[in-house]
Amino acid sequence: MTPSVIISEVAPRDGFQPIKTFIPTEQKLAVIRALIAAGVRQMEVSSFVSPKAVPQLADAAEILRALREDPATPPDFEACVLVPNRKGVELALANKADRIGFVLSVTESHNQSNVRRPVAESLADVLGVLKELPVDGPKIRVNFSCCFHCPFEGVVPEDKPLALISQVIGARPKLEIAIADTTGNAAPDQVKRVCGEAVRRWGKDVSIAFHGHDTYNMGIANVYAAYEAGIRVFDGAAGGIGGCPFAPGATGNIATEDIAWLFARMGVATGLDLEKLLAAADLAASVPGGMPSGHLRSVISRRPAPQFA
Ligand code: COA
Ligand code: ZN
Repeated sequence: MTPSVIISEVAPRDGFQPIKTFIPTEQKLAVIRALIAAGVRQMEVSSFVSPKAVPQLADAAEILRALREDPATPPDFEACVLVPNRKGVELALANKADRIGFVLSVTESHNQSNVRRPVAESLADVLGVLKELPVDGPKIRVNFSCCFHCPFEGVVPEDKPLALISQVIGARPKLEIAIADTTGNAAPDQVKRVCGEAVRRWGKDVSIAFHGHDTYNMGIANVYAAYEAGIRVFDGAAGGIGGCPFAPGATGNIATEDIAWLFARMGVATGLDLEKLLAAADLAASVPGGMPSGHLRSVISRRPAPQFA
């Protein structure tokens, strides 16, 4: 069945990046492969950022190579890497990522904290890259951080993300943009208005994703609000691990398995196998140093009956 919504997995990037102790590359790959086995076909597998800023993801090239050389990797699997600047784009191209996810923030102070430069400089880089890269090259996503709330500036006025996003629309065909609630502080009515306006203005021209965190237990409500607003691509992290180290106070992403359950319960096809996804989520949650969250993993009735023989 063709999925009606796409759940794009970010545990290997957003989920692993705040974990201090280096996770061996093979262990990262085991989580990635378990997610692929559960049906995940779009995944942020790592990032090309300064290894001083995020030492955990310094093995991005090895991850991409291992997946490319593994005959078990399905041909329709899309490996995305997050990049903050042109150097990241060059590395993503050299290492043959299927999709490049550029990141910039809506607020000056978070952009400065995250990528150490003004929003205008990030935007100029994004526009340059969108124009220069051949259309038949890797797919591109532009991730807009702090669309709803900023750890330094508080609640973000609703016209602010829309004004920034409008500047990349039309710069390249087949673009994906992501509207991100980096701190998990968005409220569902705010998500519905901002995403609804984005879908109304640009839904025909670009694919629009919602990227949420679950800090205030509003993650699933926000996914539902975004769905009601017309969004059809959702980021999630298996086991609900993750968080931006440069956004103080933010906790993990919305658990992929909780998003998959929401849509399964609503009869909306995701293409994911829930039992295999739970196994992958357990694996992601078992990585030492992560702070797993989410609900579906603790629903006892969904687990195999205990054997007392
Ligand atoms: N990939 C790998 N290395 C990179 C890089 C990239 N995209 N961009 C810069 N570097 C390296 C430089 O080569 C330099 O290395 P050196 O010290 O060995 O010479 C070092 O990082 C610093 O480079 P500089 O251009 O001075 O960057 P900076 O110190 O001003 O930091 C960023 C800017 C964007 C590189 C850094 O803040 C960063 O990587 N941020 C990413 C944050 C992140 O991942 N946040 C979570 C996701 S939203
Ligand atoms: Zn995030």
